[in-house]
Amino acid sequence: MNKQLNWPLSSIVYQIYPRSFMDSNRDGIGDLQGIIQKIPYLEELGINAIWLSPIYPSPQKDFGYDVSNYCDIDKVYGTLEDFKKLLNLCHKKNIKVMMDYIPNHTSSEHRWFKESRSSETNAKRDWYIWANPKEDLSPPNNWVSVFGGTAWELDPLTGKYYLHTFDTHQPDLNWRNPKVQKAMFDVLRFWMNLGVDGFRVDAPYHIFKDPLLRDEPLNPNYQFGAHSMYDTLLHIHTAWLHESFFIIKQLVEVLKENENKFMVTETWGTIDDLLLLYKTVGWKWNQPFNFSLITLPWTAEVHKEYIDRYDKLLGEHYLPSWVLGNHDKHRVASRIGKKQSRIAAVLQLTLRGLPFIYYGEELGMTNTKIARDKIKDPYEINSPGLGLGRDSERTPMQWNGDTNAGFSEAEPWLPLNKFYKEVNVEVEKKDSHSFYNLYKKLIELDKINSAIREGIYIPLPLPAQNVYAFLRKSENNKVLILLNFSRREKKLSMDMKGKILLNTSLDENDVIVDLSNFTLRGDEGYIIKL
Ligand code: NOJ
Repeated sequence: MNKQLNWPLSSIVYQIYPRSFMDSNRDGIGDLQGIIQKIPYLEELGINAIWLSPIYPSPQKDFGYDVSNYCDIDKVYGTLEDFKKLLNLCHKKNIKVMMDYIPNHTSSEHRWFKESRSSETNAKRDWYIWANPKEDLSPPNNWVSVFGGTAWELDPLTGKYYLHTFDTHQPDLNWRNPKVQKAMFDVLRFWMNLGVDGFRVDAPYHIFKDPLLRDEPLNPNYQFGAHSMYDTLLHIHTAWLHESFFIIKQLVEVLKENENKFMVTETWGTIDDLLLLYKTVGWKWNQPFNFSLITLPWTAEVHKEYIDRYDKLLGEHYLPSWVLGNHDKHRVASRIGKKQSRIAAVLQLTLRGLPFIYYGEELGMTNTKIARDKIKDPYEINSPGLGLGRDSERTPMQWNGDTNAGFSEAEPWLPLNKFYKEVNVEVEKKDSHSFYNLYKKLIELDKINSAIREGIYIPLPLPAQNVYAFLRKSENNKVLILLNFSRREKKLSMDMKGKILLNTSLDENDVIVDLSNFTLRGDEGYIIKL
C-alpha cells in the first residue's frame, strides 16, 4: 500500500488550539510563529499530523468559530505568509496539516452577512436564514441555540429574524442556496491549493434545518439544572437531517479533486448516525469523530460492548477516529482521574483507527478553575453554572515551570493551570514515568508495531470483572491489550504468554509474562506482544 496516499491509516493527529499553544509576540495569545518554534517538540513527540483549531480572521466571539473571512489568517495569529511557512516546515518533517472548516455559520462580521442583512433585496439576502416574526413579534418558532436562549435574533434593519444555531454573532448560512454551496466548496479548494492535507468539519449535522421551520417537540427526559437549555427540545428539525449527509458527501467530492486528502467530521450522534454517515459518504478517508471515549462511563464492560459493536459494524473498510478530549470537553485527566487517563491513553492509541490527541493530554494536563471575572467562553456566559464552560480546558500549554509556563512573556489570555510547575514538558521529559514518556512510547509503538498500527481488532471475553482485553493482529504480529478499569488488583488466568511492550506505570518494560497465573495491579494497563 502506498503510505503517502493513505496518510490517515498510519497517523496520529495532534490538535493544536493555536490561541493557547505558544505565544511568540508577547501579547498573551498563541500564534503561528509560536507553533513554528515548537515543530521540533511535535517531531520529538512523534505525531505525524496536526489539526489547527480556527485561525481565520474573526471577531473571536466564539474564539475563531465565528469566521469573518475563510481565506485569510487572523492578525492575532499572524499572516498567510506565516501559515505557508508553517505548512512548508511541517511538510519537511512529514507532518500533515489539517484545518478547521466551519460550514454551518459565519461571523456576523463576515462580508456575506453584512450584505445579506443590508436589505431584503440584496443579492446575498438568501445566503442566510431569515424569517418573519410572529404576530406578537416573538421569534418565528421555538428553536433554541446550542449556547442557550432562542436560536433567532431580530435584526432591526429589516425587522426580520435570522437563525443562529450557536451564538447570536454566528448567523447560520443557508445551504439550500447553491451559491452558498459553491462559495463554501471554494473555501476547501483555496486551502487545498496551498497544500493543506485535510479538514476537521465543524458541526456538519446542523447544516440543514426544516425549511418549514416547524417547532421542535419538548424533550421528555429534560431535567432542569442537569441539562442545558438546548436539551429542552428534541432536535428533529435542526440536526441530522438527511440532506446533511449528502452535503458531507459533496464536500468529499471536492476533496477528491486532489490526491491524498482527508476529512474528519465533528459528529455528536448515535452509532446509527455515524454508520449512516460512513455508508452515505462511502469514502475511507472521511471519518466521523467517535466521541464515545469521552461520554461512556468508566467501566470495562461498557467500553468493550460499545467498541466491539462499533468495530464490527464498521468492518475492515472503514476506520474509526478516537478522541479523549478536545477544546469543547473537560480534560480527560479531570474527568476520569489521572491513573485512569493513562489507561484511556493506551486504549485510544491501541485501538484500530485514527487517534486525535488534544494538546496537553500528553502531559496529563487537568482542568483549570476559572474565576468569574476571567470567563471568556460564550457557552458559560449564556448557560452559566452547569459546568458547560470550555475555558478550563483551553488554558495555556505548559512548557516549563518558569513565568507563564514558558507560554508567553505577557499575561496569558486565560489563566494558567495551578499545577504547571510540576506538570510541564521540561519536567516530564526528565521523568521516565511521566505522562509525556507514556505518550511518547505509545506513539513510538504505533510506528514500529504493525499490529498496533494497522492490525485487525479481535475482541476477547472479559478476563475478570472490569478488565477489558482485546487483540490487535497483523500478518506477522499479535499484541494483547489488557486494561484494568478497576482500582482493585485482579487475578487472571488466560492461556497466553508474551513480552510486555509497555505498561501504564512504565516499570515493566520487556518483562516476559505468563498470563495463566498473572496478577494485574489496580488502575494498570498493558500492551503485551504474544
Ligand atoms: C463546535 C466547535 O468545536 C465549538 O468549539 C464551537 O463553539 C461550535 N462548534 C460552533 O462552531
